[in-house]
Amino acid sequence: MPDAIFADPRLARLYDAFEHPRTDLVPYLAIARELHATTVVDIGCGTGAFALLASDDGLQATGVDPASASLDVA
Ligand SMILES: C[S@@+](CC[C@H](N)C(=O)[O-])C[C@H]1O[C@@H](n2cnc3c(N)ncnc32)[C@H](O)[C@@H]1O
Repeated sequence: MPDAIFADPRLARLYDAFEHPRTDLVPYLAIARELHATTVVDIGCGTGAFALLASDDGLQATGVDPASASLDVA
């Protein structure tokens, strides 16, 4: 059962505004690059912040999350 902030559509829409900027995700992208990854699977992707960052950087990204409201945002 996901937390309300990720599962409630009203809260999920606000998540990125409050979490911005996502400088915490940059090291994970660096690790993917260091490993010469071409694909990433973001387990617990929430609103897709990392999956989208990775995709924008040219990686094939797949995000999964039990909170469908967050996936709708993604
Ligand atoms: C702290 S949030 C982080 C979301 C996202 N990775 C980010 O950086 O913005 C944790 C996420 O894990 C998801 N989650 C909770 N339980 C999970 C499970 N058993 N398997 C996969 N994801 C889960 C939640 O729905 C939520 O989106």
